[in-house]
Amino acid sequence: MTITPLMPVYPRCAVRPVRGEGVYLYGERGEQYLDFAAGIAVNALGHGHPHLTKVLQDQVATLMHVSNLYGSPQGEALAQRIIDVSFADTVFFTNSGVEAIECAIKTARRYHYVNGNPQRHKLITFKNAFHGRSIGAISATDQAKMRDGFEPLLPGFDYVKFNDLEGALAKIDGETAGFLVETVQGEGGMTAGTQEFIQGLRKACDEHGLLLILDEIQCGYGRTGKMWAYEHYGITPDIMTVAKGIGGGFPLGACLATEEAAKGMVIGTHGSTYGGNPLAMAAGSAVLDVMLEPDFLPHVEKMGDRLRQAFEQMIPNHDHLFEEIRGKGLMLGIKMKDTVVSRDFVAHLRDNHGLLTVAAGENVFRVLPPLVINEDHIAECIERLSEGARSFAPPSDD
Ligand SMILES: Cc1ncc(COP(=O)(O)O)c(C=O)c1O
Repeated sequence: MTITPLMPVYPRCAVRPVRGEGVYLYGERGEQYLDFAAGIAVNALGHGHPHLTKVLQDQVATLMHVSNLYGSPQGEALAQRIIDVSFADTVFFTNSGVEAIECAIKTARRYHYVNGNPQRHKLITFKNAFHGRSIGAISATDQAKMRDGFEPLLPGFDYVKFNDLEGALAKIDGETAGFLVETVQGEGGMTAGTQEFIQGLRKACDEHGLLLILDEIQCGYGRTGKMWAYEHYGITPDIMTVAKGIGGGFPLGACLATEEAAKGMVIGTHGSTYGGNPLAMAAGSAVLDVMLEPDFLPHVEKMGDRLRQAFEQMIPNHDHLFEEIRGKGLMLGIKMKDTVVSRDFVAHLRDNHGLLTVAAGENVFRVLPPLVINEDHIAECIERLSEGARSFAPPSDD
């Protein structure tokens, strides 16, 4: 492979977006795409949302960056707003999801360290998990394709099948610090944790003095129709990572924790030059302005139900391609039959029908539209998807 100006780590396709408007993206040649990928669950408010754009423009002209050595009125205000609508007592802002994961792993280890149990350093994580690409995060997943060639990895992780509560409980030993789990697995195949599984992990944490770390980087922030995916399970975590939707497209992430879980994270234990900068805080605050409007989350829930129903109606017409629907709210996945490859179907929809979706593990393709879609966008998606399914199908005999 010859080297390219951008390090060639992505299989970049021919779509080269240069402009976005609402739920649509436009390529270099002016071609239009219905964006039901949303930057992989990032553009929660779509592209060019007027409020987010205005707030960012104003903040750029006011103050972009100061060091974390100074007080942060912007950071305090956003952290407080997040605390007010979540389980958390404290927030560390990052620039990405994986940095939030790093902060979560460190917070869990420090918790047991300051409790006089430094041997409790291991996290039980789950097969097919995706937590990002740092050495810490690839150590927390068992997926060989992400780990090969990067050894030695960070020690201190045990891997168990997702949704296997018994297996997870059996792994607990004297070195266990807690569980790190996506409430709804995204990359791995859009599988939601079962009630029994997520609630069982919580119970085990309470019984054994462990920490429950939820990775809601993809499934949090309104994506499933509730502010946080954990609300579907009637539990709260001790630590949680968020990113993606939180900045609506601006690079922003956060590690949330209870006061108890964060008790080891004192001065000097962690930091980030850019984390929590005023521009990022403005983005986060603008997203929350919109998301906390009383109608916003009910709208996401309604659109999620509509989209799922539309998929359910469509699937029987193309049952040679589609197997089942997965996910929650506007975090949906369609598992494809073994005879087809979801990655090929995603490319076909993109290249021939102007519909953007994302491939995931277990032969699933992900549908992650902006949370602001309406019924017309759903109808358009179904039309393009049905046409795509028809033209993708092998010619029939009759
Ligand atoms: C569940 C989950 N965790 C972590 C990450 C990593 O986030 P980032 O790419 O912002 O580092 C992702 C990104 O796709 C994710 O979906």
